[in-house]
Amino acid sequence: MKWKTDFPPTSLMPFRKVNDENVHSIQAGHCVVHPASPGGDTEIEALALEISRHSDLYYSHATPEISDNEFDLLVERLRRLDPTHPQLTKVGSDPVPGSEKVIHLFPMRSLDKATLDTEIIHFVTETVKSETRFLIQPKLDGTALSLEYRLGRLVRAATRGNGIKGEDVTANARRVIGVPERLLEPVDVHIRGEVVMPLEIFHRSYSHISPNPRNLASGALRQKYSDGKADVKDLRFFAYDVLFPSHSDRHPDAPQPPPASDDSSHLEWLTKMGVSPAEWDVVESLKPTISSTKIIEKTQKWMLKRSEFPYEIDGVVIKVDALAQRNELGNTAHHPRWALAWKFAPEVSETVLLDVSWKTGRTGVVTPVAKVAPQMVGGVTVEHVTLHNIGEIKRLGIQICDRVRLVRRGDVIPKIESVIGPAKEEDLKDRFHADGRIFKSHFPLRRKPPIPTNCPECGVFLVEDGAFLRCPNMTCGGRGKHAILYWCRFLEMDGIGEKLVDQLMSAADLKSVVDLYRLDFDQLLALDRMGERSASNVLLQIEKTRKLTLYQLLSALGLPRIGPEISLSVAHSIKKWPELENLVRSWDALPGQPNGGPECDGEGRPYKHNSSIRRLTSIEGVGALVAEQLLSGLATRSDMIGEILSEIELIDDDSPPNSSTPLSLVGMSICLTGTLSMPRKEIQKIIRNAGGRPVSSISSKLDLLIVGENAGSKLEKATSFGINIVDEEAFFELISDNQPT
Ligand code: IVH
Repeated sequence: MKWKTDFPPTSLMPFRKVNDENVHSIQAGHCVVHPASPGGDTEIEALALEISRHSDLYYSHATPEISDNEFDLLVERLRRLDPTHPQLTKVGSDPVPGSEKVIHLFPMRSLDKATLDTEIIHFVTETVKSETRFLIQPKLDGTALSLEYRLGRLVRAATRGNGIKGEDVTANARRVIGVPERLLEPVDVHIRGEVVMPLEIFHRSYSHISPNPRNLASGALRQKYSDGKADVKDLRFFAYDVLFPSHSDRHPDAPQPPPASDDSSHLEWLTKMGVSPAEWDVVESLKPTISSTKIIEKTQKWMLKRSEFPYEIDGVVIKVDALAQRNELGNTAHHPRWALAWKFAPEVSETVLLDVSWKTGRTGVVTPVAKVAPQMVGGVTVEHVTLHNIGEIKRLGIQICDRVRLVRRGDVIPKIESVIGPAKEEDLKDRFHADGRIFKSHFPLRRKPPIPTNCPECGVFLVEDGAFLRCPNMTCGGRGKHAILYWCRFLEMDGIGEKLVDQLMSAADLKSVVDLYRLDFDQLLALDRMGERSASNVLLQIEKTRKLTLYQLLSALGLPRIGPEISLSVAHSIKKWPELENLVRSWDALPGQPNGGPECDGEGRPYKHNSSIRRLTSIEGVGALVAEQLLSGLATRSDMIGEILSEIELIDDDSPPNSSTPLSLVGMSICLTGTLSMPRKEIQKIIRNAGGRPVSSISSKLDLLIVGENAGSKLEKATSFGINIVDEEAFFELISDNQPT
């Protein structure tokens, strides 16, 4: 190996201009800068860069140039020369955790939940009837992690996120115990499991700073610079699912997945690969009643075992073992039909209802929120708890100053389950807020909770809609605010939060999402404590969402009961807005009516639903109720959607960026390589602010590569793909030419 020992330390490296001297090849639209400029620095820096380059080749591209032994020697030498060098704590070119999103190759679904034995019996005898073998695993109460191995090497680890898109947490995941860098065979596989903190470690080191090990595990996995509450090394990974990419998604050199007909064989295979699965049992019987009894026995076994188990568990997962049957049963948009999470009985405690207030959400539902005397339940101090709807208040027959029973089931938010009776003054004594302050309150007057007749936000008369109270005013400030916040959150518009939206609503007449797209620089600048830089950033955030896919539009609207998973299934099937709009137009027509489609099927049987609903229910995971809610949600918002569509452009999933947009980075995928003059994170932020999308690897679809000093294989690969390449300074010139004025 040839050592490069002659370039300047990165902190001193100036921007380099692309000019005649340092450009060694200019093709149409491409300019490639020289690699390292000589300048002299220690062997240590050279060594660190070399290690970084080989790590990148090894971890991100699975194309190592040197043997593992040679690599270890480099690391060893660096350790000897500079034992505290930051490169020794880095692995490859993993992005800063949380800075990049990962679209899951296989969606990470939730589980259908149950708490009663009768629900287990129903699952076995009805939902999956004719299945004879079940796999039973503890439901680990941690945080889900997806590990992607290519040719047996860990290349990426991602959190669950919303099930479709998670966060890249590779750098942290590599340090979790039980996450091997290399599998014992060079396979391409996605391994899913739970990251947990052993209870012994939790009680020894962390119980004074966090209510439960789950929050610590999730926080530690997502921390950016080892600055979280917990050390990643205190976490442990246990696998529960194995998924093999199809042939087209596999590395050409990857072997075929192991032949397996059931999940338990996959778990055994995992053990041989060096990964520990969560422990499991298999129960088998030809008779569903016997299977149910055996499964219920296992849940009882786990109930007894729970208190001495080294990790927090909140139930038991029951899964059909045979993979072919799983396939046949399929999934809803939310959960697989072949699995059921049976949860342990909830934790219960008692408190006093002090008051009830009402809040208008983005869908117009006006929700009662109970204020209760602070009470610990399931490890968290509760002071506010939703009462869900007016129906729930009636069901409970609850009154202010009642003593109430609070329950918290596993990871679910606490709820008031029942009323015990009128409270006494001493029920308010010896209570503490979450931050340790003593709780003080007067003893409230016992009375029925106030039920509003008018919207607490806009004053419009409320309508009763089943168990719900709803504000019918589509321009209601409360609805508008939460709809705008939901839109901005879903589309990851950094820096547009509740405070800014409040300001814009009162000072700039912002009423709905479409008004965001009509804001101008001066309106923003006129806001309190808003500088030019922040105003440009807000506009940039808005600009970058002027092109959306149908999936993004449907999800960001936040229609009642229509989450990202349903939106994705619908957008995959109905690719174009006009087709969906047609369905919306006839959403409430009856079969046989104009636009409702035929009244009967080919055999004369009357249709229950019109053709629009039937079109939607033909999509996996979409039932008639969801279809109706989607179409009616779109119908009631059709004016607003029309206005939004006059401001934004709907693009196909893979459509290229439009060069006529004022910001040249909008929609562009941009990769960084080599040593840059400022932290990658900073440059990635600038890219995001200008509407671009930082990515970590080179593909033929990449729009731009920004190269720093000592760029290696990424530069070569990008050149071979004919991708636009600029150096750092040219990049900054490019974006400064395109800042909005
Ligand atoms: S199977 C398709 N098995 O529970 C879903 N999940 O509530 C496959 N979990 O997000 C999941 N222990 O993170 C499965 N033994 C186990 C589990 C388990 C914990 C978590 C998992 C999932 C959540 C669903």
